[in-house]
Amino acid sequence: MTARRPRGISASIKRVQAQLRQRQQRERQRNAHRLFQEATRLKRLPLYLFAILDDLKAQARAQGIDVIDLGMGNPDLPPPPHVITELHRRADDPVNHHYSRPDGVVERKLRDAIAAWYRRKFRVTLDPRTETLPLLGSKEGISHLTLAFLNHDDIALVPNPTYPVHFNGVVMAGGVLHNIPIHADQGYLPDLKAIRPEILRRAKMLFLSYPHNPTAAVANLKFFQDTVRWAKRHRIMVVHDFAYSDFVYEGAKAPSIMQVPGAKEIAVEFHTLSKSYCMPGWRFGFAVGNPDVLASLAKTKSYIDFGIFRLVQWGAIQALTGPQGHVTTVVKEYGRRRKLFVEGLQRIGWDIPMPKGTFYVWAKIPQKFSAFTSLEFATLLMQEAGVVAAPGTGFGEHGEGFVRFALVEPEARLKEAVTRIERVLRMES
Ligand SMILES: Cc1ncc(COP(=O)(O)O)c(C=O)c1O
Repeated sequence: MTARRPRGISASIKRVQAQLRQRQQRERQRNAHRLFQEATRLKRLPLYLFAILDDLKAQARAQGIDVIDLGMGNPDLPPPPHVITELHRRADDPVNHHYSRPDGVVERKLRDAIAAWYRRKFRVTLDPRTETLPLLGSKEGISHLTLAFLNHDDIALVPNPTYPVHFNGVVMAGGVLHNIPIHADQGYLPDLKAIRPEILRRAKMLFLSYPHNPTAAVANLKFFQDTVRWAKRHRIMVVHDFAYSDFVYEGAKAPSIMQVPGAKEIAVEFHTLSKSYCMPGWRFGFAVGNPDVLASLAKTKSYIDFGIFRLVQWGAIQALTGPQGHVTTVVKEYGRRRKLFVEGLQRIGWDIPMPKGTFYVWAKIPQKFSAFTSLEFATLLMQEAGVVAAPGTGFGEHGEGFVRFALVEPEARLKEAVTRIERVLRMES
């Protein structure tokens, strides 16, 4: 790498805090001198910590530090080869370069492929025309769903910490965000019964996502059964982000909320090809479930986008209907990385539970560094070890005290990361 020889903890915290303060000051000054001020809705959004990390990463690289980037959940493995072959094969047909239209050939085949995938994987039957909706990535769909449904006094219930789009979408849409803190001792599942009646009366949507980013927690079918019953009673829409549907280990299987009888009356579920099929740059995801909700999401999108590039749609059909061995290989690889990295950290004295799902490791900041915020500790890791981790507060205020590692580098690099992190953990007070 490599980073400097670690200094003492108290000297480091002063330095890191001063750097972050300077950065904030620069940002404030830049904003104060802008000719065009951003809309209030943008200003209300919490700080986007990944932007800060990107800056720090660039600085570290400029200093010659070999950065091991475990910050963003950007899969490093290649997509299935048959998907790439399909992309090449379809590229010469001019029709595939036209605007996408809902009644086109590929568009109809794609919805059929989504419904068939669901039938095969979860034994759930969906009407391809009304109960499936392709998206420009699940992030796009989730954020536009809030625009479609939230008025200014409508509440969205959002577990915290969570994938930032779940709360940022609500803020952007001008709805009212109600955080539900989730904790390790409850398996990071929200306690829905604890929500006050006056909040419930105004609540319109509940966001869920299991296997869970960032905590790596999983949910069982009973949890979804209880949630569906609860949501029907209170007439609340359940939005289940199922991005990590394949990422569970030791023979476990992650349930779909759609497996609960009657779930379609109140729920929609979001998927992506970004993770299981290693196709994050393709920008392809889809939603399934309640037809009225999907129709309103499609209506919102019709004012904003023009559908999905047809080559991407052909590739998505191949991914969903072709051989699935690649997905199994990918999940096995992340399973190996998870074991290697977590056992490595445990060996050097960082007490971290083995994650049950996703490809993230949610790590409580060691006691010795408790004076550091998660952003400060992530900065320290980057500067002293050249290892990028995401600060817990990037996932909401209840993520404070944690950092998240995304296992998106090969095993050798993860081993190297553990060696470098050990040096930080051994720093003198
Ligand atoms: C929980 C969750 N949902 C959705 C996404 C975004 O997926 P997509 O690439 O389909 O927008 C991510 C990406 O990290 C995620 O972690």
